Amino acid sequence: MSADTLFSIKHFNTVSSTNTLAKDFAIKGEKEFTVILADSQTAGRGRLGRTFYSPENSGIYMSIILRPLLSPADTPLITTAAAVAVCRALKKVCRITPEIKWVNDIYYKSKKVCGILTESSINVTCQSTDFVILGIGINLYENDFPKEIADIAGALFESPPAEETKERLTAEILGEFYKIYLNITDRSFMEDYRNYSLILGKRVFFRKNGEDFYGRAQKIDDDARLTVVLENGEECVLYSGEVSVRLA
Ligand code: BTN
Repeated sequence: MSADTLFSIKHFNTVSSTNTLAKDFAIKGEKEFTVILADSQTAGRGRLGRTFYSPENSGIYMSIILRPLLSPADTPLITTAAAVAVCRALKKVCRITPEIKWVNDIYYKSKKVCGILTESSINVTCQSTDFVILGIGINLYENDFPKEIADIAGALFESPPAEETKERLTAEILGEFYKIYLNITDRSFMEDYRNYSLILGKRVFFRKNGEDFYGRAQKIDDDARLTVVLENGEECVLYSGEVSVRLA
């Protein structure tokens, strides 16, 4: 089946959060590849308890219900796969070369234009994954970013793009994601993940257990673990979800 016919899209004007709504649908048994798409979110959520600014018609806010046959240990692959899918789609539709800031932020012209939030429901008894909600938020054009994010947030276009561009981009992201998802455990998409990396080879900073660290981002392995060589020569391996890394 092709991605065009596979995904079933439920479009809403305003929701609290497409991830929250998708989760409610998934709990009620909604099928895999159902996509919740909204024109705006009143309580868009980001990683680490942050909010995601989602004003009306300024971005793509969508969440996909997945029911992967993956062990809980492999579900983080979905986030990295989504980051690669977004980059491939942006390259194809917008003819730009975005960059991935480990783990899952997409940057363009040094500003964050896309965030990804993946939330899993695990069956503890079976140690299996019940469902995963893959949420993707893209800033299409700048619409009065609040001052807290004004320095970091950016957008793909300078003015609102045509509805057709928005639809094409949404469709390409879903299509590119599906292509990877079919054989996600082979991790072949990680090569592209590294190619799109914003931080590899660069000087980075992160804070862990209240301590500040500086070093060089040396490698990202096929499980998206990042090795940083610290200033004292020690190697530090970082796991996704553990810390947030920025360029130093
Ligand atoms: C982040 O940058 O920390 C992740 C942001 C994820 C935002 C998207 S928008 C669609 C979906 N619904 C949400 O509430 N969050 C995700």
